[in-house]
Amino acid sequence: MRDTTLDNAIADHKTYGDVELQHRLFARLRREDPIHWTEPAGYRPFWTVTKYADIIEIERQADRFINTPRTKLLSIDFESKVREAMNGRPMLVRALPQMDNPDHAKYQKLTHAWFQPRQLRTLSDRMEALAKESVDRLLAIGGECDFYNDIAIYYPLRVLMTILGLPREDEQRLLKITQAYFGGGDPEMQQGSDLIDATLAYVNYFKDVAKERRQNPRDDVATVIAMSEIDGRPIEDFEAYSYYVALASAGHDTTSATIAGGLLALIENPDAMSRLQREPDLIPGAAEEMVRWVSPVKHFFRTAAADYEIRSKKIKAGDSLFISFPSGNRDEEAFDRPFEFIADRSPNRHLGFGFGIHACIGRHLAKAEIVAFFREFLRRIDHVELAGKPAWTETSFLGGVKRLPVRCRPRSRADDA
Ligand code: HEM
Repeated sequence: MRDTTLDNAIADHKTYGDVELQHRLFARLRREDPIHWTEPAGYRPFWTVTKYADIIEIERQADRFINTPRTKLLSIDFESKVREAMNGRPMLVRALPQMDNPDHAKYQKLTHAWFQPRQLRTLSDRMEALAKESVDRLLAIGGECDFYNDIAIYYPLRVLMTILGLPREDEQRLLKITQAYFGGGDPEMQQGSDLIDATLAYVNYFKDVAKERRQNPRDDVATVIAMSEIDGRPIEDFEAYSYYVALASAGHDTTSATIAGGLLALIENPDAMSRLQREPDLIPGAAEEMVRWVSPVKHFFRTAAADYEIRSKKIKAGDSLFISFPSGNRDEEAFDRPFEFIADRSPNRHLGFGFGIHACIGRHLAKAEIVAFFREFLRRIDHVELAGKPAWTETSFLGGVKRLPVRCRPRSRADDA
């Protein structure tokens, strides 16, 4: 008999608002039924894929397991609302996550160079200045704050706005849209809006950006996208706006959630924190561990293009697969002591940025941001502790800590000397 409670829990946003529950649920799946046929009430069924090796096997075969037409988990009700709002299209945007080859490669190429380490080095001064500004602000408000809402959400947004060339006065507007976009089922994050409204708000904002860049090209990613050509013709508006939405949305809360969740990991592991303070060269490795530990992207879907067999399960052409990155990242067969935060874990071939042709385009940027932030933070903060209970976003798609009350004590000048 089907365990409907288990299936409903996989789809339920609330599961992800309780990290212990989330990890218990996926550990059970890895143990008992790692490729699990899932039929949650109100959702089209899918296979839940929980083992590291299986995720890699599936993601590396991008022609057999495609991204269209189902990218992420939406209720049947919501899927029909999307079709209605989009004149029959099954998706609100068409950007890299909603594309397969050959289109995916063509669109990825447009911005690829901007996200490579060589280009990012030109941004390092700006990133360090933004990291410094974040720690300045933390200390200016007395060291006691809700670290996620007062600090972590601003810093990656500012880095992203720099790359896209967007003005600082648009910050609050973009912040609101992103939070509504990723609120999932979380009433606190959605602020009365929903995903369709949030996407339209993004599109409206970026319409003006594209128009302006076509008239006044600049040296930024927004111009690259607005002026790009696909197969010898100018990029279509819908695809240009979709590209902006993908970068603005994927590049923001992922990184804030990792920085906030990474800080919580250091609070819970004071030895790791003191070690990083003493040996800052370990921070890049610790940043990777933070991404593994937090795994802010809870899933992406793939759809089988042909019949396929894995672990004796017969996947039929057209079936969809829910790829659980947090589960792959806690897989006991892939990681030594997966439930421990090990700042200098090596090797650490985690799946926090995904794998294969769709692996995160912003991974070098994200890592550089996390490293710049913690270099500054650990250099200037002596001690940090919880000042209240943390809370997690209730979302099955993307999110992490949504409240992190902390108390920080700066280093004294004598410590610096
Ligand atoms: C710690 C921060 C981040 C994490 C954990 C993260 C994680 C991910 C994951 C898991 C995927 C899906 C991979 C797959 O399907 O296998 C993804 C895709 C993507 N990410 Fe990130 N990401 C982060 C930061 C960023 C940043 C800073 C940007 C850009 C500014 C970005 C842009 C994208 C885009 C455009 C995609 C779609 C790629 C494609 O489908 O080809 N991400 N990311």
